[in-house]
Amino acid sequence: MANDSNRFQAIISHCKEYGFIFPSSEIYDGLQAVYDYGQMGAELKKNIKDYWWNSMTQLHDNIVGIDAAIFMHPTTWKASGHVDNFNDPMIDNKDSKKRYRVDHLIEGHAEMLKAESQTQKADELLASMDLLLAKDDFEGLKKLIEDNKISCAISGTCNWTDIRQFNLMFSTEFGSTVSSDDEDNKVYLRPETAQGIFVNFLNVQKTGRMKVPFGIAQIGKAFRNEIVARQFIFRMREFEQMEMQFFIRPGSQKEWYEFWKAERLKWHQSLGIPAEKYRYHDHVKLAHYADAACDIEFEFPIGFKELEGIHSRTDFDLKQHQEYSKKKQQYFDNDIDPATGKPYGNYIPYVIETSIGLDRMFLAVISHAYEEQDLSTADKQDSRVVLKLPAKLAPIKLAVLPLTKKDGLPEVAERIMSDCRPHFRCFYEEKDSIGKRYRRMDALGTPYCVTVDHQTLQDDTVTIRHRDSMQQERVPINELRRIVLESIN
Ligand code: GAP
Repeated sequence: MANDSNRFQAIISHCKEYGFIFPSSEIYDGLQAVYDYGQMGAELKKNIKDYWWNSMTQLHDNIVGIDAAIFMHPTTWKASGHVDNFNDPMIDNKDSKKRYRVDHLIEGHAEMLKAESQTQKADELLASMDLLLAKDDFEGLKKLIEDNKISCAISGTCNWTDIRQFNLMFSTEFGSTVSSDDEDNKVYLRPETAQGIFVNFLNVQKTGRMKVPFGIAQIGKAFRNEIVARQFIFRMREFEQMEMQFFIRPGSQKEWYEFWKAERLKWHQSLGIPAEKYRYHDHVKLAHYADAACDIEFEFPIGFKELEGIHSRTDFDLKQHQEYSKKKQQYFDNDIDPATGKPYGNYIPYVIETSIGLDRMFLAVISHAYEEQDLSTADKQDSRVVLKLPAKLAPIKLAVLPLTKKDGLPEVAERIMSDCRPHFRCFYEEKDSIGKRYRRMDALGTPYCVTVDHQTLQDDTVTIRHRDSMQQERVPINELRRIVLESIN
């Protein structure tokens, strides 16, 4: 593959062609930064979710999972700081009074340049915009608009105000409203799942009789009206998060932060993706609620970028909810503090958060798995695209392929299907040559294919083909279930 940008485009096309990811409402030309998962994508995504969920809840006795609603009381977002601080820049045209998102305005101009075949200029403009946005450099962005003579579509002038902030939360009205401007009925689509955990902290602690330190995990949708949204499922406006808030004693946050930092990297590496594809990025500029924070970055085809965040969130969120709700968010710790010889007593716990984007994890897994291989020999040109997915994440674990549609071979294949189907996802196919069927399964990331042939009728053995090595071996049918189960557990 010539370069990473081509590789990224090839992965996007592959996702569409093989039923992993489609643009949302594609028949209406799609909706920017919103995607649908197809029949293969939904399976892969679910397997990633299960892998995270089980490793958090099943493998940690002190972590439980919840599933909170997307809609939350609007005061939640006042307390969390999102109403006041979760912003992106916008600009007004003084003549038409029309307001633009700065990124939309510049992107619109770039589209126009592209239509005029000035692609390089358009790309340079977008790259400069991304850099300035990352630095929150509003003066630089305004200068970029002026230098490129970007005008308002209505007034046609370049008479712009200074750039101001725009909130990233989507809002809608709740219940039957008289007017859409009615602030009382305004609710937000949650921009992070974390707040659903914070507001349930005491519910879970009391009903689950949880003792600090303990964690609450959650997987769910989050929504952000993102300003830069041109990177496939890397940055979406509707996405899913897998978050865990770990409640700890004040003063122990450094130790637990280091613990979760290491633990999360180990989880990533347990998938067999090489260690050099990951790195930490420690935050220098900390959010107002954090006393330490880092990202686990992954080397995507678009470079090293944030995959997961680990944040030491202090007691900020619970304190804020206590203040806004007027309900105590305290925990009574009756363990003995060795320093005083008395129980630790009442306190608002501190929190270490681990937060990973499910869609980003999907992109990390599929982009690492994607391989184009030249299999040509001296006499024959050949190639394949293979998804070297970890077997436990693969959408289909076993493909069952009768060599022909007759002679009783489909019946034996159906017997294998019945035996394996209750244990893992299998796929039956009898159309096309065996070679073509293998290639299709490679492209879907299926780790095992078995071929039922005439020898099977005599000795009850089949050929099992291993996706990555393409090696084939003869095994008894009654061994198949064990072989596949061993590799996915
Ligand atoms: N509760 C903390 C929080 O939401 P964040 O760094 O804003 O922190 C956490 O988001 C993770 O969610 C990121 O590391 C990323 O994987 C994912 N994420 C954030 N915005 C996203 C978007 N627009 N599209 C896809 N994933 C996103």
